[in-house]
Amino acid sequence: MNYILNNQNEKSKCTGVRDKKDMIFAFQTSFFAMCRLSSFPWSALEIELRNDESPEILLEILQQTCRHSLCRKTPPSVKYRRLFLSELIKRHEATTSEPLDELYEAFGEILGVEEEPTCYKSYLLPSGDAVSLSESTALISEGTTGLVTWEAALCLAEWALDNLQVFSGRTVLELGSGVGLTGVAICRSCSPRRYVFSDCHPSVLQRLHSNMQLNGLVVADDPNVTVTVRELDWETVTEDRLRELGADTVIAADVVYDPAIISCLVGLLSKLLRCAVQGTHPDIYISSTIRNPETYSCFKSELKNAGIRYQILKGPITPVFPYNRSTSIELIKLFL
Ligand SMILES: C[S@@+](CC[C@H](N)C(=O)[O-])C[C@H]1O[C@@H](n2cnc3c(N)ncnc32)[C@H](O)[C@@H]1O
Repeated sequence: MNYILNNQNEKSKCTGVRDKKDMIFAFQTSFFAMCRLSSFPWSALEIELRNDESPEILLEILQQTCRHSLCRKTPPSVKYRRLFLSELIKRHEATTSEPLDELYEAFGEILGVEEEPTCYKSYLLPSGDAVSLSESTALISEGTTGLVTWEAALCLAEWALDNLQVFSGRTVLELGSGVGLTGVAICRSCSPRRYVFSDCHPSVLQRLHSNMQLNGLVVADDPNVTVTVRELDWETVTEDRLRELGADTVIAADVVYDPAIISCLVGLLSKLLRCAVQGTHPDIYISSTIRNPETYSCFKSELKNAGIRYQILKGPITPVFPYNRSTSIELIKLFL
């Protein structure tokens, strides 16, 4: 199903607002990905509302967000929708004295609805498809960081869409997949031969399974890409198991965040690079948000101690997903 409003100029996507259609598209992508409300193009909307007395643009924004079929199927959290609608009402009423019934009706519909611990976020792909994922409303829940999508995953997915050849026809193993954004985007857009999602946390593995189903990526249902979800703990995985997975490409997003797990992660990366299958070892790409420079340099020193070299890659060129582009994210390729 094509969820994207219309064909957008690549340059304008998620970056700036060129015209009305562009603005509505920015509202739509940000709403479905549950971006911070402050990142929406409110000033552009207010200018538009001041220049044009008709409520047409607000009705279109409502149609492409809360009234969209995607919102019925996989809605953002109740609290988020409430906050979004109140902000829309506030911005509208700052420019006119006439309240808009349709906005109040939409707000009224979710006033009494109870909040749930999970919600859906949807990320629109250039093809017009949406990747919809069930995610937690809290960044850390059930003792794991794996139940939400992190920015390094969005960055890695964008980079993948720019570099299809790294994935096309290959067996891809993803470490610490979390809710699965990067993998679903790659399966949808980069034609891998096989894709192995992996994680160690039981709730994350369960969520991965249900998110695969939600996105129609069930092994038996898709003859083109064989998708599997595996329990793979960096601490205990054996070389035999890695050989059996036979990955040509290994990726991971936001796995360098806790100093306590760096040495087992590096141990696993070293095993992957050293247990060559038929003389070749996989290409490994790691995307990391650098929150704490000390933790990240500890990761790099451990790589060096393990005899692993790295090359810093140029990040994604084509913006696709809405996220804070001033966040410090580094993408590296590893080799011996
Ligand atoms: C910050 S989350 C990143 C999730 C996802 N890649 C993303 O960027 O949205 C880190 C992930 O690494 C997983 N993880 C942490 N330690 C692990 C280990 N020892 N073995 C396997 N996975 C692990 C967590 O369960 C979690 O899903």
